[in-house]
Amino acid sequence: MEKDKMLVIGASGQIGIELVMQLRARFGVDQVVAADIRPAADPILTEGPYEILNVLNNQLLGEIIKKYNIKVVYHLAAMLSATGEQKPEMAWDLNMNSLFHVLEYAKKGWIDRIFWPSSIAVFGPTTPQTDTPQFTICEPTTVYGISKLAGERWGEYYHKRWGVDVRSLRYPGLIGHRSAPGGGTTDYAVDIFYKAIEDGKFESFLSKDSRLPMMYMEDAIKATIDITEAPSEQIKIRSAYNLAGISFTPEEIAAKIKEHLPHFEISYAPDFRQAIADSWPGSINDEHAQNDWGWKAKYDLDSMVKDMLLEISKKKDLTETIS
Ligand code: SER
Repeated sequence: MEKDKMLVIGASGQIGIELVMQLRARFGVDQVVAADIRPAADPILTEGPYEILNVLNNQLLGEIIKKYNIKVVYHLAAMLSATGEQKPEMAWDLNMNSLFHVLEYAKKGWIDRIFWPSSIAVFGPTTPQTDTPQFTICEPTTVYGISKLAGERWGEYYHKRWGVDVRSLRYPGLIGHRSAPGGGTTDYAVDIFYKAIEDGKFESFLSKDSRLPMMYMEDAIKATIDITEAPSEQIKIRSAYNLAGISFTPEEIAAKIKEHLPHFEISYAPDFRQAIADSWPGSINDEHAQNDWGWKAKYDLDSMVKDMLLEISKKKDLTETIS
C-alpha cells in the first residue's frame, strides 16, 4: 500500500525545518513535500520536494495538493505573538484564512488529515497560572492568541460537523538549535544560548521571574508526529491538547547556563513582550495528552541546556569553551 504523502507548510520556519527532517527520515524523502513563502532556509530542505507557497494563495495550495496527491497536511505557517502585535490585521488574516483553506480541502475530501499547532497563547490573564488545566478559562489578550483560540474552535467544529480529522497541540515556547525562532515572546530562551556562547552575556527582554512553559524541539517534534500518526479514535480532543515540557524563568535558565559557562552574565530590560508573557501561564497540565495518546516529554532543564550548549558550540567549533 502506498504511504500517505505529506505536505509541511511553513517548512522554512523554526519548527518546519526539524519536522521535515524527521518526517523524511521516517517516511522517505519523496513522501514529504516542504513548502514555504520563502526559499529554503536550510539546504537540507531541498534534498526532497520543495515548493514556494504563500498559503493565502488558495489556488496554488490546491494545485500542490493535487500535484503530489497530498493526504496529510502539517500547517505550521503563522505570525507569532510579538510580530502579531505589530501587525494585528495581517496576523489575523494569515493565521485564520490559511487555516480555513486547509480545513476546506479536508472537508472536500482532497486531504485526509491535518496537523495545525495551537499555543499557550490561547490562555490569558484570567486563566489559572499554575498547572493550567486542559479545560479552563481562555481569554487571550494578543491577536495571535485570539487567532489560535478561534482556530481551535473551528477545528473542533469541522471535526464534529463534517468529520474532518484535525489534530492540534498547544505548543509551549520551543527551543532548538537548528533553526531560529521568529517573532515570538518565548524567543529569548533560544537567543540566550547563542549570546552566552558568543558574547558571554545576554540582555533579557523579559524580567528575571517571568516563568513560562517551554519545550525542547526534539520533544515537540516527537509530540507532533505522535499525535498525527495516532489512531483517530485516540484523539478525543479536537480543539488542541495541552502539552507540558519544562517551566523556567530567565533567571533559572541563566543559572543553569552558568553551571557550564561560569563567566556568563544576564541582565534584564523588559520591553512590550513582558505584558504578553505576563498574560500566559507558568506551567501546564497535560494529563489528557498523556492518557489519550501516550505523551511523555523526555527533556528536563538540565538535559536541554547541556544539549543546546553542545550543539551550538559544535556549529561554531567552540566545544572547548563548554564544561
Ligand atoms: N512561542 C510562541 C510565541 O512566543 C508561543 O506559542 O509567540
